[in-house]
Amino acid sequence: MNKKVIATCLAACFIVAGLSLIPVSGIMAQDNGRPELILNGRSKGPVPFKHQLHQTIVKDCAVCHKDFEKKTGALDEAKNAGTLKAKQVMTKTCIACHKAKKNAGEKSGPTSSCSACHS
Ligand code: HEC
Ligand code: HEC
Ligand code: HEC
Repeated sequence: MNKKVIATCLAACFIVAGLSLIPVSGIMAQDNGRPELILNGRSKGPVPFKHQLHQTIVKDCAVCHKDFEKKTGALDEAKNAGTLKAKQVMTKTCIACHKAKKNAGEKSGPTSSCSACHS
């Protein structure tokens, strides 16, 4: 093979490699969901929730999403399926973190006032 043929082959390789990365980056794009959500607080009333603010503070999605999927209505779905207990997320995720932050003297969300979360 002469140099020109080799150069053409290499160029073709790079183009194919480059194109194959496009669908991969498409799949990797993360869906952060809506910035503001209204969570189902059932008998105690709805819970407006600043999802985007928490994504900025918490960074690791799994801190919350370990217990329920990343989709609308996931809390109810997990409760109905019996994989999540009533008030489990409220107590063990939301209030637990707020209390830890408060005890550390940092900015925190509500730790006890029901109406600060349930409207
Ligand atoms: C502080 C807790 C918390 C953190 C951290 C968090 N989420 Fe969520 N997310 C929730 C709750 C609660 C819901 C609502 C589930 C429901 O509707 O029952 C939700 C819903 C979603 C939804 C569906 C949104 C919609 O519009 O209905 C997506 C997508 C999602 N989260 C992605 C993410 C990603 C990606 C991250 C990390 C970058 C993340 N979340 C971090 C609590 C959190
Ligand atoms: C930091 C915010 C926050 C505070 C403070 C809070 N809640 Fe909640 N509560 C939630 C969230 C989020 C849910 C839905 C997820 C869950 O059930 O864990 C919820 C759910 C509930 C439910 C419905 C559970 C079910 O599935 O039937 C009740 C009842 C409830 N809370 C009562 C209370 C009472 C009483 C207080 C005050 C003593 C309180 N909450 C304080 C966020 C909060
Ligand atoms: C890992 C820590 C962490 C978790 C988990 C967490 N929060 Fe928070 N939350 C914070 C911090 C820190 C703030 C204070 C943010 C600020 O004032 O800048 C806050 C603020 C809030 C506020 C007040 C926000 C405002 O300005 O209106 C509410 C309401 C709240 N959180 C609800 C929730 C609910 C509901 C959940 C569970 C679904 C939750 N949080 C889970 C850390 C957490």
